[in-house]
Amino acid sequence: MAKQSPLKSLSLLFFLFFTLLTSISESRLTTDFYSKSCPRFHDIIRDTITNKQITTPTTAAALLRLFFHDCFPNGCDASVLISSTPFNKAERDASINLSLPGDGFDVIVRAKTALELACPNTVSCSDIISVATRDLLVTVGAPYYSVYLGRRDSRTSNSSLISADVLPLPSSPISKLIQQFEARRFSVQEMVALSGAHSIGFSHCKEFAGRVTRQDSGYNPRFADALKKACSNYPKDPTLSVFNDIMTPNKFDNMYYQNLPKGLGLLESDHGLYSDPRTRPFVDLYAKDQDRFFKDFAGAMQKLSLYGVKTGRRGEIRRRCDAIN
Ligand code: HEM
Repeated sequence: MAKQSPLKSLSLLFFLFFTLLTSISESRLTTDFYSKSCPRFHDIIRDTITNKQITTPTTAAALLRLFFHDCFPNGCDASVLISSTPFNKAERDASINLSLPGDGFDVIVRAKTALELACPNTVSCSDIISVATRDLLVTVGAPYYSVYLGRRDSRTSNSSLISADVLPLPSSPISKLIQQFEARRFSVQEMVALSGAHSIGFSHCKEFAGRVTRQDSGYNPRFADALKKACSNYPKDPTLSVFNDIMTPNKFDNMYYQNLPKGLGLLESDHGLYSDPRTRPFVDLYAKDQDRFFKDFAGAMQKLSLYGVKTGRRGEIRRRCDAIN
């Protein structure tokens, strides 16, 4: 075998070293990622979300669910924002995503437009979703957590990748939900903490009405009667919906967990968290201790915001959030 010249080996070593260095620096997310390239990044997002939340108070819950549906299936890469084309059916048109509220999409479009004016081609849509979600949550009473930045956006979005296997269904047994979260390295406790997201927002009748009429459904009887009434016309009017937390629907707090033992949970999966011995201890813990819920929710949201992120050449900075460049 021919011997390699020392010069050749040295340049190979340098090449490997620089490749490693670039990939390390490309994959590192930091909280001050835009401090030089877009110094008004945080102010612009805060102004946008505040204006939107004041005029449309359902925005915080809308974006929180959109964020979950973006991150959970294949990482926080803003793939859920891409619109379908005649050649491609995108994630947002998968059946489970059709109920994602327009106000979640709208607040991101507004923030992106303002950011493109201030700092063109600089800020990713996935960073905007992560920070806007955190900031909106804070406006409704949720705890603050740091959001690491430097995500890049996906170059693809495919509806066929979004099935009941990747996003949880309210009818799924708790074992299946646990398995879906554990497959993404979220513990049972983190799953219960994240489910506290149902402290705000609402669900359409079709997501729970079938369950209310069943015997032994776990609903408080008076609550069940009220739900039957509220949803009586839902097959004809699919827009009918009910607050996820009927006691404090617009405030992010631990009331969601206090409701569950009383049979005041809305979705079958919410009831399941209380009836299953693996999840119930955490429901009891968070119902008793709001500070503990806030601490665990903040940690789990920060972790979710880092799930499967794309950096460097694996993603792009989209010029518009609803289309690839
Ligand atoms: C554990 C399994 C989960 C299931 C089975 C589930 C299922 C659902 C369903 C069926 C709805 C009603 C959607 C509609 O009718 O429009 C809903 C609403 C919502 N979900 Fe979940 N979800 C789960 C976990 C989560 C997580 C982890 C988050 C966020 C971190 C989240 C955030 C929300 C929010 C904020 C709403 C209200 C949306 C609005 O008001 O527009 N959910 N969820």
